[in-house]
Amino acid sequence: MPLVLILNGPNLNLLGKRQPEIYGRETLADVERDCAALGQDLGLQTRLLQSNHEGQIVDWIHEARETAQGIVINPGALTHTSVAILDALHAFEGPVIEVHISNVHKRESFRHHSYVSLRADGIIVGCGTQGYQLALRRLATLLTA
Ligand code: DQA
Repeated sequence: MPLVLILNGPNLNLLGKRQPEIYGRETLADVERDCAALGQDLGLQTRLLQSNHEGQIVDWIHEARETAQGIVINPGALTHTSVAILDALHAFEGPVIEVHISNVHKRESFRHHSYVSLRADGIIVGCGTQGYQLALRRLATLLTA
């Protein structure tokens, strides 16, 4: 089965606890469980990872060059700052879907720009944690086309 990495950036370890009015009450463990179950149905193996450190995310993307066929990424605040993550994603050949739980376009203007969008094959914004599942469905289509 193709492997999809679901990468999460800073503060997403606090999902379900931090600003639930914006990010909802589901935790990252809930997301991991739901994605694993959907992945089974779609014929995808999933591995969810989270780090508060930019370099760790860059390293995981490098490893994905050898091990994974697709990437779902919510880089958190690094979305708006990280050329390093953009460059790492440019070095990954499979499809990449960018996810934001909140509708970043309804929020502060500094959240309106994403470096990662310059590489993403698709972007899912403002669909809550369901966005991860929508991203997986899209990857299943792209990986089996
Ligand atoms: C986020 C949006 C970012 O602006 C923010 O820094 C996050 C989460 C989202 O999923 O809505 O940490 O990526």
